[in-house]
Amino acid sequence: MNDPYRTLGTGYAGQRRPDPRLAALIDDALGRARTVVNVGAGAGSYEPADRSVLAVEPSPVMIAQRPQGSAPVVRAVAERLPFADKCFDVGLAILTVHHWTDPARGLAELRRVSHRQVVLTWDHAVMSRFWLVADYLPEIAEAERELPERDFIAEHLAPARVTEVPVPHDCSDGFLAAYWNRPHAYLDPAARASISSLAKLDPSRVEQAMRRLRADLADGTWQERHGRPGAADTADVGYRLVSSPG
Ligand SMILES: C[S@@+](CC[C@H](N)C(=O)[O-])C[C@H]1O[C@@H](n2cnc3c(N)ncnc32)[C@H](O)[C@@H]1O
Repeated sequence: MNDPYRTLGTGYAGQRRPDPRLAALIDDALGRARTVVNVGAGAGSYEPADRSVLAVEPSPVMIAQRPQGSAPVVRAVAERLPFADKCFDVGLAILTVHHWTDPARGLAELRRVSHRQVVLTWDHAVMSRFWLVADYLPEIAEAERELPERDFIAEHLAPARVTEVPVPHDCSDGFLAAYWNRPHAYLDPAARASISSLAKLDPSRVEQAMRRLRADLADGTWQERHGRPGAADTADVGYRLVSSPG
């Protein structure tokens, strides 16, 4: 099985610690579910401790980072879930659908095995306006234009409800726009290594963009454009929860 997370996943659990405020939103979306299948579960972020959870994850590197005592995990892919129809209350998928080889098939499988579905994704149009993308690395928006995000997922889970997921200024889960108010964080190669949108780009191009960000921070250009780092509580940087009704 080809595993991009063999390199991308190294150090993931350290950089991508689940954020309690996002966990509360996801928990709320799970509603009264007692049984949850978490597909593309990675190191187990956002798996609720008070419900029966089964994790599905193809990457051994990610499975190895699941903390002791976390939910049992089956090594499989979303496109072929080894479960009977409707045997879980909720099918959960967090920031994973864009990695699937066949997202439409994976979402159909998620629907087949669960009564309801809850998916964390993003809105491409909003994410494209995020300063790191718009000002420094617009090729991210270009490269990700065709990836399954809000509209694709909502269509495949229709009728679906889409809710905004505001990102706290001190978010502990280091995904692409997590550091919207901590620009210095992007200068750290370890933080960038756990963000697939950055890890997939030409490293010399990312270095060039980071040199410009460093200079803009040093001479106040960034602050002039975006305000003082640390100045606001939450921001809508494009993350969305798509959930299907019961
Ligand atoms: C960004 S990580 C998200 C992990 C976890 N859900 C989280 O929120 O931290 C994406 C995960 O999707 C997994 N993945 C990639 N292709 C997959 C597939 N076809 N089916 C299921 N999971 C897949 C990767 O191995 C990786 O663990």
